[in-house]
Amino acid sequence: MEKKKVLGLSFGRKMGNTEVMVKTALMECEKAGCEVKFLRVDDMDIKPCTGCISCVVGMTTGRGKGGCPVKDDFYILDEALMECDAVIVGSPTYVLSPTGRFKTVCDRIGPSHDITFRKAAYEEGLAAGKDPSQLPDKRSFKKRVGALISVGGAMTKNWLVFMLPTMYEFTMSMGIDVVDMHEYHGAMAHEHVLGNEPQMDRMKKMGQNIAGALAAETEEERTKWRGDEEGVCPVCHCDMLTVSKDRTGVECPVCGIEGELGIKDGKISVSFSEAQKKRSRLRWDGKLEHSTEIKTKAVGPGQIPNLKEWKEPYLGYAEQN
Ligand SMILES: Cc1cc2nc3c(=O)[nH]c(=O)nc-3n(C[C@H](O)[C@H](O)[C@H](O)COP(=O)(O)O)c2cc1C
Repeated sequence: MEKKKVLGLSFGRKMGNTEVMVKTALMECEKAGCEVKFLRVDDMDIKPCTGCISCVVGMTTGRGKGGCPVKDDFYILDEALMECDAVIVGSPTYVLSPTGRFKTVCDRIGPSHDITFRKAAYEEGLAAGKDPSQLPDKRSFKKRVGALISVGGAMTKNWLVFMLPTMYEFTMSMGIDVVDMHEYHGAMAHEHVLGNEPQMDRMKKMGQNIAGALAAETEEERTKWRGDEEGVCPVCHCDMLTVSKDRTGVECPVCGIEGELGIKDGKISVSFSEAQKKRSRLRWDGKLEHSTEIKTKAVGPGQIPNLKEWKEPYLGYAEQN
């Protein structure tokens, strides 16, 4: 049987805490019989998304494969992602959130790798008699699992507050099922994570969790949550909620789903209906809701006849460069 492939990605410094933590999890996957690969993303030349949206326009018009016209090292990461069955992603905390490069990579993956856009383009292309080489990569639809590692120097956990919710941006559009995540805060209280046995043990556990998910025989077992905490949201397992004056309920900002607040045993409890859980943007239905909205409501160029003229006063206005 072909070995399952696990990709480890670190957005941290060479041989820093994040890198060693990702590699510790990978070593465990290798012990369990998986093939492993590691990429230090900071060593790669990955440019920001230019916002041209040719990836989505190409897929929705049947002319493109979801590719990006920017020429840099992204193709290396893309090929590694397409090849893998599981991904373990680690990022240090830079100002409460993952690093800028992490966000850059998420932008490059985001719309272009959305499985609902890719699947529709693929199926419509096949039906129109196109060769698969002209269509989105078939490997985009492989069912993958993932794990997230957040590393922060601060001793106070709330200095890592946007980490795990934001890290879902990496896995969301490809529909990677996150089965484990871990936050290491207080990293600056140690010279290095090497020597911090509880953290190293947790990373070994993460590797075992990923290998376990890859060996699962049923879909339920494959996607089973293997993290330490259930979290407030039953889909993403994060603890973040947003409230709004216009709603009585609360929203999980990662999943984009609404829940009801209650009090249970003197503590706040949140419940999400099955219908809401199903429409989480981490799941097919939620992604389809979004891609359908874009396909049916987004307007193309040429709608405003005087647009060029209206733009005139703004062109170059107050620009210093
Ligand atoms: C620009 C910058 C901002 C940082 N901001 C935070 C922060 O908001 N919260 C935190 O916990 N740690 C913060 N840190 C500390 C790093 O998260 C910490 O040193 C981490 O271990 C680095 O990971 P690495 O060893 O894998 O490179 C910051 C570090 C840098 C360089």
